[in-house]
Amino acid sequence: MKIETLAVHAGHRPDLGTRDVTPAIHLSTTFERAEDGTFPGGHIYSRQSNPNRAMLEQALALMENGAASLAFSSGNAASLALFQALAPGDHVIAGEDVFYGTAVLLNQTLGSWGLKASYVDMRDPANVERALTPATKLIWIESPSNPLLNIADIRAAVEIARKAGVLTAVDNTWATPLLQRPLELGCDIAMHSATKYLSGHSDVLAGALVFRERGPLFDKVKAIQHAGGAVPSPFECWLTLRGLQTFPYRVRAQSQSAQKIAEFLNKQPQLEAVHYPGLTRHPGHKIAAAQMSGFGGMLSIQVKGGQPEGFKLVAALKLFTRATSLGGTHSLIEHRASVEGPGTRTPQNLLRLSIGLEHPDDLIEDLDQALKEL
Ligand SMILES: Cc1ncc(COP(=O)(O)O)c(C=O)c1O
Repeated sequence: MKIETLAVHAGHRPDLGTRDVTPAIHLSTTFERAEDGTFPGGHIYSRQSNPNRAMLEQALALMENGAASLAFSSGNAASLALFQALAPGDHVIAGEDVFYGTAVLLNQTLGSWGLKASYVDMRDPANVERALTPATKLIWIESPSNPLLNIADIRAAVEIARKAGVLTAVDNTWATPLLQRPLELGCDIAMHSATKYLSGHSDVLAGALVFRERGPLFDKVKAIQHAGGAVPSPFECWLTLRGLQTFPYRVRAQSQSAQKIAEFLNKQPQLEAVHYPGLTRHPGHKIAAAQMSGFGGMLSIQVKGGQPEGFKLVAALKLFTRATSLGGTHSLIEHRASVEGPGTRTPQNLLRLSIGLEHPDDLIEDLDQALKEL
């Protein structure tokens, strides 16, 4: 079945009592026991499971073609639960331009707990191989990376990981299961900030892990989810499931618009660089084309001059909203270094754009008039 069909039907079943086509929101935190002590509704207490979360988890597993999924209260809560399933002294390899929030989890939140992390330039798989140690347990891949849109060769990383007996996880937030299929490329886990494209309207905070196999790792992370309770509320599960129904159409349109916009920006003399893997001159273009079916709705640019010129460009835009995050209906632009804060590796003249669902010609016109202000 095609992903558009799965996205509409996954997790949805008309309620057998009321025949609702759109699922109800189950706010109850607790569920009645039968006289014999069993739970005929299938749920005990909402930290452990809830009907809306169960629907969402089923749908997300189907989206990524995984065996099972676990939903969390944010993308970072999902990543944290996976890292917590490792032991103190274990070692993780991540990209040197990994999402800032993931590096904070590895360095600060879990660094003091004894988890070790190395950061390498993942554009070359040899760097991943060189960083392996006997303690390495996980290779964390983010491709395209945030915010530089570097591409890692997922198949090559999986091959290295398999030889070393190490797990692979892909942060698939930017690509989404429409454009990139990490589990089918051999990875063990696909992670999502469902806050972004999957829910798609900038009104939900949620995250998920999808597992290729329902084995001991899944059980361990599920136990962490249950014990810690970093779970999305029934309403957030409901909103995410609603957003999921349209995500393939939204992401396809956003990806096509981003390609058009990147090609326009690529010709502008006021810019020092345009980072978008759909541009044939992008160093990761060939690998991206081999492992993605589209290049996504995110791009970043570097403005000639520096931060002041970047701020001037942003201030002159009328359709792009100055805000962090991505994957919603509104196009957003942000000065990434100031959002990341101290220790950022992001160049000061870099602006990150999330292309929304406006017509690309209108967005190009807006960028054109703002560029002329420089
Ligand atoms: C690539 C990537 N991974 C993870 C996250 C974290 O997601 P959340 O904000 O839902 O915790 C983000 C958020 O921007 C992201 O862009």
